[in-house]
Amino acid sequence: MNDILGNWKRSHYCGQLRATDIGQEVCVMGWVQRRRDHGGLIFIDLRDRDGIVQLALDPDRDPEAHAKADRVRNEWVIAAVGKVSPRPEGTVNPKMPTGEVEIEISELRILNQAQNPPFMLDEFTDVAENLRLKYRYLDLRRTSVQNCLMLRHKVTRSARKYLDDNGFLDIETPVLTKSTPEGARDYLVPSRVNAGQFYALPQSPQIFKQLLMVSGFDRYAQIVKCFRDEDLRADRQPEFTQIDCEMSFVDRDDVMDIMEGLISTIFKETIGVELKLPMPRISYAEAMDRFGVDNPDLRFDMELVDITPIVKGCGFKVFASVAEQEGGLVKAINAKGCATFSRKELDDLTEFVAIYGAKGLAWVKIQEDGSWQSPIAKFFTEQELAEIGKTLDAEPGDLLLFGADTATIANEALGRLRQHLGQKLGMVSKDDFRFVWVTDFPLLEWDSEEKRHFAVHHPFTAPLDEDVSHIDTDPGKVRAKAYDLVLNGSEIGGGSIRIHDSSVQQKMFDLLGIGEEEARAKFGFLLDALAFGAPPHGGIAFGLDRLVMILAGTDSIRDVIAFPKTQKATCLLSEAPSEVDEKQLRELNIRLSARAKKD
Ligand code: AMO
Ligand code: AMP
Repeated sequence: MNDILGNWKRSHYCGQLRATDIGQEVCVMGWVQRRRDHGGLIFIDLRDRDGIVQLALDPDRDPEAHAKADRVRNEWVIAAVGKVSPRPEGTVNPKMPTGEVEIEISELRILNQAQNPPFMLDEFTDVAENLRLKYRYLDLRRTSVQNCLMLRHKVTRSARKYLDDNGFLDIETPVLTKSTPEGARDYLVPSRVNAGQFYALPQSPQIFKQLLMVSGFDRYAQIVKCFRDEDLRADRQPEFTQIDCEMSFVDRDDVMDIMEGLISTIFKETIGVELKLPMPRISYAEAMDRFGVDNPDLRFDMELVDITPIVKGCGFKVFASVAEQEGGLVKAINAKGCATFSRKELDDLTEFVAIYGAKGLAWVKIQEDGSWQSPIAKFFTEQELAEIGKTLDAEPGDLLLFGADTATIANEALGRLRQHLGQKLGMVSKDDFRFVWVTDFPLLEWDSEEKRHFAVHHPFTAPLDEDVSHIDTDPGKVRAKAYDLVLNGSEIGGGSIRIHDSSVQQKMFDLLGIGEEEARAKFGFLLDALAFGAPPHGGIAFGLDRLVMILAGTDSIRDVIAFPKTQKATCLLSEAPSEVDEKQLRELNIRLSARAKKD
C-alpha cells in the first residue's frame, strides 16, 4: 500500500487555484464533494480544507481517467493531475474563489472509497445536532465547521505571540491534582496505588499559577483545559479551555491594561476588527443598577430605571408595599415603540420574567395622545403618572414594563427581560463588539440554605483596601479587587488581585466557614507558600471557547470545539462516559452501589 500515491506529490490545495495559475500542471488531492455527468463530460467538485476546485474529465483526453471518474461517488478520496484552464464562457462561477478555473484532468487515482455519509456534507442541509456529533469527523469536513476551528487556531496563535512578546512564560500545571474551589463540582480520578484516595481534575490552575508567582516567574500564561461538573448550557462545557494568566507586582489597572492589549490584538489579527481602547469600566453596583445583571449587553440602551421613590405611598398596593419593604425595589424599562405588542406577547413576557421568580409584570402602553393604556393606570394620580413617564422618557408608542420585588429578583427579572427584548427586537448585531469591564464585585455572597458566606470569585481574591476595615463587622459589604470582562452580554473572562499575606488568607477562610484544620488539609501548601515571601500578584482567565464563539458569530460553544460534549456531558462519538470492567474497578478499590448498577 506504500505506493498508493506513487511518485505523486500534491502541488496545491484545491482552494488555492486562481486565473493566474492558468496553464500550470497541478496535482490535487481530496474528497469528492459532488460529481456531475454532462453526457460524456464529467465534472467533479474536489474538496480539501482549503476549498473546492472543479475537475473536468473528457473521455477524448484520457479514457482511463474518465472511466475511473465515472465510478467515484461522494466522499471518495482521489488524487488528480491536470492542467489549470479557464472555464468556458458562461460557466464562470463568481461565488467560488476558484470559480474562474477548472482542471483538465489527464490522470486520476482513486485513493479510497467511502460509504454513503449519513447526512449531506454541505452548508444547506439542516442536520440534527446529535447526528452531527455522532459522526463528528464527517461534520468536521463541512466548510463552516472547519472555519470555526481554523479561527480558533488563529486566536490561540495570536494570544501566544502577544503573551510571549509581553514576557509571559508558558508553564504547564498538573491535571491530576487537588480540588480548587471555583464553585463547581470536581471531576474525580481514583488513585490505584493509593487506595481510597482521589485526584481532582483542575477547575482552573488557580493555586498553581499563584505558586508560580511565589517562585518568582513574574508572568505566567497557559492555554489550558479546565474541568467543571456543573449544569451545562449553550455557553458551558464540562471541559473547556482558558487563556490563563498571572502577573506579579501589579494592581488591577495593570492587569486590565495588558489584557485589553491581548484582546484587541486577537480581534485585529483574526477578524480584522480594530477595537477602541481603553474599554469602558463600570462597577458591579452600577451594572446592577442600570442593567440588572453583572454581564450587561451594551449594544443597546433600554436601561433599568428605579421608580421606588415615586411609587412609595401610591394607590397600587403591589408597588406601594414593595417600596415600603427593606431592600424592595420597583424598577421599569421602556421598550421604545412596542405599544403594538399583543396580549399574547405581553403574556409571554410575563411568563419569561416568572422564570426569575417575578410575581408579575405590570405594563403600560403610551397612546398617541400620551395617555396610559394599562390595567394599573387607575391606581395612580396624574402627578405620579407624569413623574413615572418623565423618568422613563415615555413617548407615544412606547411600552413600559415594571417589576416590583426584592432587589435581587427585580434586577434579575428586568435585566434578563432587557436582554431578551434586545434579541427579540433585533437590536443586537453580531458584528458589533461592545466590551465592558465590571469591577468591585462583592467579595462574599450569603447562602441562606447553607447559612454561610461563599466567595463570589474564589477564596484567594483580595478585598478592596478601603473596605478591609469592615471585614469583621459587615463582611457582606466588602468589595473585592475582582474584575470580569463582558462582551455583548457574555462573561468572557474573570480575574482578581490575590491575597498575598497568609494571615489575611487564613482570615478569608474563617469568613467562609472553612476551619483551620480544613484549610490546612485543603490549601495548607498555599498558606505555607504565602508565608515564604509571596509578591503582590493578580491575574485573569479568559474562556477561549466563549471568545471564539463570539468571534465566529455562532450561538453555541459546541460549534468551536472539535469534539464537544452534549448538554448531558456525554460524547456521542466515543460514547464516553461508559462502563468499565469489573477488574478495573477492583484494582481501584471501587464497588458500585446497587443503584449505579441498575442505571
Ligand atoms: P472563572 O471561573 O471566572 O475564573 O473562569 C474564567 C472564564 O472561563 C470561562 N468559563 C467557561 N467556559 C466554558 N465552559 C465552562 N463551564 C466555563 N466556566 C468558566 C468563562 C469565565 O469568564 N481561576 C479563575 C481566574 C482568575 O481568577 O484568574 C477562574 O477560573 O469565560
Ligand atoms: P393584579 O393586581 O395582581 O391583577 O396585577 C395587575 C398587574 O400588575 C398585572 O399586570 C400583574 O402582572 C402586575 N403585577 C403583579 N405583581 C407584580 C409585581 N410584583 N411586579 C410587577 N408587576 C406585578
